[in-house]
Amino acid sequence: MAEGKRELLERLAGRIRECTACPLCEGRTQAVPGEGSPDARVVFVGEAPGRDEDAQGRPFVGRSGQLLRQTIREAGWREDEVFIANVLKCRPPDNRDPADEEIQACRAWLIAQLVTIRPRLIVTLGRYSMALLIKPGLRITQIRGQHVVRDGFVVLPTYHPSAVLRDQDKLADFRRDITKARRLSEVIDDNGRLNV
Ligand code: URA
Repeated sequence: MAEGKRELLERLAGRIRECTACPLCEGRTQAVPGEGSPDARVVFVGEAPGRDEDAQGRPFVGRSGQLLRQTIREAGWREDEVFIANVLKCRPPDNRDPADEEIQACRAWLIAQLVTIRPRLIVTLGRYSMALLIKPGLRITQIRGQHVVRDGFVVLPTYHPSAVLRDQDKLADFRRDITKARRLSEVIDDNGRLNV
């Protein structure tokens, strides 16, 4: 019998936990594959695990995660209805920015997760997921909140929640973008078409 999405995602997570494709594996406590519903209509993609995530093996469980998860709930989702992942599955030392080689070594895991889940919408959080899933070199302040279609996925870029914690002026836009994500996820059909 064909493997279901849940089994496929679990098998991917098992392989991610054992991945040695880049040197970040040497410093990790554990890899952070991502978590959520295999049938999620929306996938949120952050940058990389931080200290709390590395310790717990779960994405967005520290301070920025609390903001993200609270905003997701305020927009009307249950946390277990969505899927939350990162561009990098292992923590960079001292939470430094991801390096290009690390992103290239890790990207196939995220793509495999997205192809398995086939969400109606992907929300990119911050510049690394925006560069990977929309286009490199874009400025987040110019395109946040504007959805685009890439490789058959509708993608909505917004701020990374840590940027919002550093600059509270970004909070209203961040909330607006996540609320827009909720609305979009309800009007995109299973073929990725917007019905507005
Ligand atoms: N920041 C991220 O980008 N991802 C996490 O999982 C936690 C913090």
